[in-house]
Amino acid sequence: MIEADGLSKRFGSLRALDKVSFEVKQGEVVGFLGPNGAGKSTAMRILTCFISASGGTAKVHGYDVFDDPLEVRRKIGYLPQRAPLYGEMSVWEYLSFVADMRGLDKSTFKKRMRGIVEVCGLAQVLGKDIRNLSHGYRQRVGLGQALVHDPPILILDEPTSDLDPNEKAEVIRYIKEIGKERTILLSTHNLNEVEAACARAIIVSKGRVVADGPLDDIRARSGKVRYVVTVHEKRVLDGSSKKPPTAQEVQEALLKLPGVTHVSELPTDDRAHSFQLMGALGGDVRPELFALIVQKGWLLLEMRRESQTLEDVFKVLTKGDERKDRGRRHVEDEHEHEEEDAAAGAEDEADDEGDDEPDDGGEDDGAEDEGAEGEGAEGDDEPGDKEEKAPAAGKAKKG
Ligand SMILES: Nc1ncnc2c1ncn2[C@@H]1O[C@H](COP(=O)(O)OP(=O)(O)OP(=O)(O)O)[C@@H](O)[C@H]1O
Ligand SMILES: [Mg+2]
Repeated sequence: MIEADGLSKRFGSLRALDKVSFEVKQGEVVGFLGPNGAGKSTAMRILTCFISASGGTAKVHGYDVFDDPLEVRRKIGYLPQRAPLYGEMSVWEYLSFVADMRGLDKSTFKKRMRGIVEVCGLAQVLGKDIRNLSHGYRQRVGLGQALVHDPPILILDEPTSDLDPNEKAEVIRYIKEIGKERTILLSTHNLNEVEAACARAIIVSKGRVVADGPLDDIRARSGKVRYVVTVHEKRVLDGSSKKPPTAQEVQEALLKLPGVTHVSELPTDDRAHSFQLMGALGGDVRPELFALIVQKGWLLLEMRRESQTLEDVFKVLTKGDERKDRGRRHVEDEHEHEEEDAAAGAEDEADDEGDDEPDDGGEDDGAEDEGAEGEGAEGDDEPGDKEEKAPAAGKAKKG
């Protein structure tokens, strides 16, 4: 239903997309993930015919986005990251206007609206002018707009970023439900949502696809499991004559355990020392951990073993991206950073047809919801996770 083949997009010297290829089959709900600036919205805007690619091809529902943009648009519902809405229209007027443009007759529109009002939680604002709506409600209207013609394919760019937790859950539940019959490409920074709604994910970083597959496969890519161990800071096992351990003692002992590759301290209250350990996916160090703790006389408060989460793998796969874009260095040494960027641009050199960015369709009334980037790539690197410092995937350098 969606096929991207070698899609590239340049904005001046910036390579926002670099030969991105993926497919989304009928009935799939696919999470489209990546750090800020990775190229998700750019890819979505190409797929929805809002901007043209600098290279490569894309088809939606069998239609080429360059040759048959009207057919493509008929087949898709698109929620842009910053949904352009007409502030002077009421919600009902706006959705009715969109339905008109989509060629829906009045009775079909009314029928569709029943479902949309419920799903998007719009009942209380139907008569309100859009300009007076909060961000979250504007986003709901944007979502309604994407659904009004009941399209077989939905391309949703961060549909839940401004919604309150209840509404997020409701929208995700709905996406999951309609995803049974439709094809959905969904970008979000909330990995829990991906876990809840998608069987598959595509992760992009710096304009390239760094992972594409079922969530289980992506999670398994790290090849590691994590253990969390917490021992009491002030007490020891009943009957033990030993002193309560310091954090350093615990850390050193844990590091010596065979099969443990990394140890890093986790934040806790002042009652406990808590550590995260990494080990190989196939192994299990819990018996040795238990024996160590008994031998030391420590009072165990918690021990658990868990597979790497999607978030862990996401961090590893996109780490190169994060490091470049975090902005810490930018604050520390603005000039150095600028020079580096200029050098990166120069590296890209080559012919560049400049940027032909028609920008969100032009009809934006100023629904300037910038900064909705919610719970994004916020996570800080786990301390001590040294092995993961040089992710092969996101760093591929190629001309
Ligand atoms: N019209 C434009 N002109 C110049 N650069 C652009 C334009 N649109 C996007 N970019 C750049 O392209 C890169 C990819 O941007 P894009 O919006 O696709 O990222 P994203 O993955 O959607 O990020 P986010 O999670 O923050 O929404 C960024 O570096 C961005 O600054
Ligand atoms: Mg985006």
